[in-house]
Amino acid sequence: MSRISLNLKIWRQDRGGKGCLKGYRIDSVSTDMSFLEMLDMLNEDLTLRGEEPVAFDHDCREGICGMCGAVVNGHPHGKEKGTTLCQLHMRHFADGDTLVIEPFRARAFKVVKDLVVDRSAFDRIISQGGYVSVNTGSAPEANSIPVAKEIADQALDGAECIGCGACVAACPNASAMLFVGAKVSQLALLPQGHPERKRRALEMVGEMDRQGFGNCGNERECEAACPKSISIRNIARLNRELLKAMIFSE
Ligand code: SF4
Ligand code: FES
Repeated sequence: MSRISLNLKIWRQDRGGKGCLKGYRIDSVSTDMSFLEMLDMLNEDLTLRGEEPVAFDHDCREGICGMCGAVVNGHPHGKEKGTTLCQLHMRHFADGDTLVIEPFRARAFKVVKDLVVDRSAFDRIISQGGYVSVNTGSAPEANSIPVAKEIADQALDGAECIGCGACVAACPNASAMLFVGAKVSQLALLPQGHPERKRRALEMVGEMDRQGFGNCGNERECEAACPKSISIRNIARLNRELLKAMIFSE
């Protein structure tokens, strides 16, 4: 373990107010710490000095819940591939580095305070069809509804989406297509998702537009920033699902 000093420039913003970057110096950061533990250390110091701690979202701190997220030097969740902010370790930074830490920025994600943004627009998209409402009963015997392994793997890949919003923050159009594509794919590929398949694609995409997310411009920034390495093949599948639903829905 070694220790490093960092210059932090952190976006500070009160509820409903204007924000600005504020500079902090932090010393003796263990390279074994996670990024969020480094922010905890800063907040302890700010509290002891009588200053307002930095607000940031977190919960599981294990890359599961999708709560954490900030833009570090221009990269949502930092520049390490396939890594959430809570799993990013300080060993990836060098002594004396300057880190610019900002909230995820998108019209549909309003800043609540400092690094905390309101991602409830995602919940409203999910409420339009990101579920199965047919009664699937108790867990069936594995061979009663055969699903090819390749298809099951693709469905599970989509199900890995934790709803963090990094894809939106990384996209120049603030598109939510990777998120919606992952959620639609995970259900469209499995038999339980078929009864609501057309309605799901139409209504989730409609809600995405109403919430103010932009369109996909094939930039692939979403895929590069996604901490779960969700492939843009899910966007292609979403487009196919939508087209079929538009042509064949009653
Ligand atoms: S697709 Fe990836 S980046 Fe987007 S919300 Fe899901 S996990 Fe986060
Ligand atoms: S705090 Fe749960 S994914 Fe980071």
